[in-house]
Amino acid sequence: MTQDIESLLNQMTLEEKAALVTGATAWTSTPVKRLGIPSMMVTDGPHGVRKVNNLDDVASESLPATCFPTASCMASSWDPGLVRAVGEAIAEECIALGVNVILGPGTNIKRSPLGGRNFEYYSEDPYLSGRMATSFIHGVQSKGVGTSLKHYATNNQEYQRFSISSEVDERTLREIYLPAFEAAVKDAMPWTVMCCYNKVNGVYGSENHYLLVDILKEQWGFDGLVVSDWGAVHDRVKSLKGGLDWEMPGPDPRRTQAVVDAVKNGSLDSAALDESARRILRIVMKASETKLGGKFDVDAHHALARRVAAEGMVLLKNNGILPLQSMNHIAVIGKAAQAAHFQGGGSSHINPTRVDVPFVELQKLAGAAELTYAQGYPADDSQQPALIEQAVQVAKTADVALLYIALPGFKESEGYDRSDLDLTRQQVALIQAVSAVQPKTVVILNNGAPVVMSEWIDGVAAVLEAWMMGQAGGGAIADVLFGRVNPCGKLAETYPVKLSDTPSYLNFPGENGAVRYGEGIFVGYRYYDARQVPV
Ligand code: BGC
Repeated sequence: MTQDIESLLNQMTLEEKAALVTGATAWTSTPVKRLGIPSMMVTDGPHGVRKVNNLDDVASESLPATCFPTASCMASSWDPGLVRAVGEAIAEECIALGVNVILGPGTNIKRSPLGGRNFEYYSEDPYLSGRMATSFIHGVQSKGVGTSLKHYATNNQEYQRFSISSEVDERTLREIYLPAFEAAVKDAMPWTVMCCYNKVNGVYGSENHYLLVDILKEQWGFDGLVVSDWGAVHDRVKSLKGGLDWEMPGPDPRRTQAVVDAVKNGSLDSAALDESARRILRIVMKASETKLGGKFDVDAHHALARRVAAEGMVLLKNNGILPLQSMNHIAVIGKAAQAAHFQGGGSSHINPTRVDVPFVELQKLAGAAELTYAQGYPADDSQQPALIEQAVQVAKTADVALLYIALPGFKESEGYDRSDLDLTRQQVALIQAVSAVQPKTVVILNNGAPVVMSEWIDGVAAVLEAWMMGQAGGGAIADVLFGRVNPCGKLAETYPVKLSDTPSYLNFPGENGAVRYGEGIFVGYRYYDARQVPV
């Protein structure tokens, strides 16, 4: 194979190499037909396959695929074997849908619970993040499908994500923000690594020679290709010099021409272009060895998604009410009981093959019990006392009240950070009002990252952290509530009592184009333990 790659490279013209290092569309690499070099298809990631219908449109509708629970939930299972199984299933779906590389896993450290994309990441802890990412990669790649370990590195917030500079000292970088990437690269060798949008100590992730060449390629021995995050390249020549092999999305004829000109006028060493072309060729040719097509087992993957969701759910409080024993009348309150909140917004958004409705799944396990539903809160941020009053009436006469509370998408998504750790005002008022009349109140949370609870947790009987639970999560909640599954998930990130307790509070999200990682290595539990701050 090595020889084949070298001989292909030797036959390529400068123009062909320059075209190869930028994509052909939003999701495919540039083929070189005369040499039999095929095109490679990549797709988001990370907790399902988002294969778009229209290759030229980044935001076009995607084909149905299994939406697995997001990374927060998977990590809370603390079960690398399960994460590997998800990776295998996702690879099977990639093969069926004609995809060579899935754009995941995301293994950035959760520096602040305010980070808008925290739901896509595993943990505040580098070791656990590394183990999870490694297992996921092994699972996917065992089937001949590639992964993209992202977003390398210190992409820990959404605020000014395209431009902000993460100012982080060397020890913190090496001990907190790089080890998960390092472990995954060394142990599982992802086919691709995706650079971050932001700058790291003043240099864009897409041009950062220190990160991409010195550390990733030389110190860790990464032999795959580095792909840009979508649109992260500012100057194609500079990025090639910095070690960024493949620019996405494409095509970009001006950039391709700039590369040709730079080689011709001597400002770009042709060896740098060759090295990136070589890395791309290696992966493209490797990808072409996997035969794509066929079908995937929709039912089996849905069942796996249900199992993972149940294994990742965390019982945060239980005064003995769970598992539910013979009930005659159950009040089911909260919009999320009917409209499952099972994934986050942004590039990871999956078009699910089907969705379990929590209320319906509950009814299936509740036997003869009567279930009465009340919406409890609106879809928006408005306060609607009438919905609370209605919920209180339903809760009062029931044996138990199950409150399905989902943190709405306008508070948590890719693209923006959270401004607080609160549920909506209406949701807090709802929990308080219902638990005041019904001591047997169980709160079921759907969210991708911590919420604060001190205003209401003392008044309720149980709290189940059900996460962004994937398409089968509605059934998984019922499994846990009725004791069909023992809830054995444990948090992989700290739940602070209040926002101002968080380690990065004084520095997040930065100002004047920079965010200082002033808390150093004291991220997550390292900080709370050292300062003896209650959580
Ligand atoms: C995201 C990546 C994603 C890419 C392609 C970017 O905006 O940061 O995580 O893989 O888009 O959709």
